[in-house]
Amino acid sequence: MDAQSPNSFEPNKYVSLEKLVSLCKRRGFIFQSAEIYGGVNGLYDSGPLGTLMKQHIRKLWGQALQQLEQEVVLLDGSLIGPEAMWKASGHISNFHDPMVDCLVCKHRFRADDIDLTRPCTHCGNKQWTEVRNFNLMFTTQVGANTGQSTTAYLRPETAQAIFVNFKNVFSTARVKIPFGIAQQGKAFRNEITPKQFLFRMREFEQMELEWFCKPTESAYFYDFWRKKRMDFMYHIGITPERLRMREHSPDELSHYSRGTSDIEYHFVFGWKELEGIAHRGDFDLTQHMQHSGKDLKVYDEEAKESYTPHVVECSVGLDRLFLTLLFDAYYEDEVEGETRTVLRLHPAVAPITAAILPLTKKQHDKAHILYKKLKFAHYSVEYDLSGSIGKRYRRQDEIGTPFCITFDFDSETDDSVTIRHRDSMKQERIKIDDIQKTIDAALSVSFS
Ligand code: GAP
Repeated sequence: MDAQSPNSFEPNKYVSLEKLVSLCKRRGFIFQSAEIYGGVNGLYDSGPLGTLMKQHIRKLWGQALQQLEQEVVLLDGSLIGPEAMWKASGHISNFHDPMVDCLVCKHRFRADDIDLTRPCTHCGNKQWTEVRNFNLMFTTQVGANTGQSTTAYLRPETAQAIFVNFKNVFSTARVKIPFGIAQQGKAFRNEITPKQFLFRMREFEQMELEWFCKPTESAYFYDFWRKKRMDFMYHIGITPERLRMREHSPDELSHYSRGTSDIEYHFVFGWKELEGIAHRGDFDLTQHMQHSGKDLKVYDEEAKESYTPHVVECSVGLDRLFLTLLFDAYYEDEVEGETRTVLRLHPAVAPITAAILPLTKKQHDKAHILYKKLKFAHYSVEYDLSGSIGKRYRRQDEIGTPFCITFDFDSETDDSVTIRHRDSMKQERIKIDDIQKTIDAALSVSFS
């Protein structure tokens, strides 16, 4: 399917941001950071289910990159970077948002988020300061001695660690151009107005791929990655009609970009960027060569000359993808006069893959053996013995568990269990020995 979808598509009608925030808190996906001290705007902690689901997303992202003809190698760069690096990357001079304050109530806004011809939405007055640029990077001091410490910055993106290590990786990893360096890790931005829950945070995680290629091939790879990354979103189960590809107009392009496309998702608050794919040309390597004085060129054996590789970048926020998956999967079904909340997550994304549910305490021993077997084999499983079976099913539906495995009286003699499928609620009887096969089939995702 081509990446273009109609703008008129309706968002998921069942979910509001409030419902999702409440589910996340109630079921242990996401908590406000340091909540008992009042919390901090834009900072969140992942609870047990959120942590599991994020692990699954990271794994799928890595899997998609490993299922390629060409090589992608990994990097884990440091979170703090020296001032010189951020000068070279352009972040010190360019990484800012326009900011404006209300002169009466002192409330601060991102100037491009509001209409300055209208009154302040906070106090109703219309007296604004000048619009100023606010740099989004967090500064820190490195070194214990006052006077001798140096200014450094928490990274606002993971990408720069990849560029400054390009030559180290190229000369040690036995890779040939074209190839990719991928990295997952935290990024920090002192957003003026963090908002929409996990959509715009001050501390978040990115999953970035920098693809190094010959300048003559960069246009080809820009298109290649636009398609690959959109396919990734389909493969992990996001509704295709709620996704679209949007090419930036020339006046929107970042300082480094020769072309950028956003994969956008239709949230309840409109079409918004989920992932950016950018043709960065030789901007980053050239900047770092000029500022560091080090040679980051590579030698082309065929052409017998050195050149600066071009870069195509694919950058997605883990937290934003997590939020998208939750929005997309959230449904409320009417079942026998009751509302059941269900997260229709892809089984490979769902925090818990299977819940083991003995009907009564009598089935505990046998059920617990299966639970331990699956757990020790690294499946994400939960064991739940309390409450009526109907209630236990609902609890699992609400957190997106694709399989509920019930041990009943017959299981004691026929070595079979009832497996209940989350979406259809259909139940089937299967042999305990076949459970792993059923789960494996549901978990397997092919990205090729
Ligand atoms: N290296 C390129 C880069 O960082 P970006 O568009 O600023 O580009 C890439 O960020 C992705 O990171 C976005 O598409 C989004 O998914 C995520 N992201 C950016 N800022 C974020 C924030 N404040 N909170 C959560 N996710 C964010």
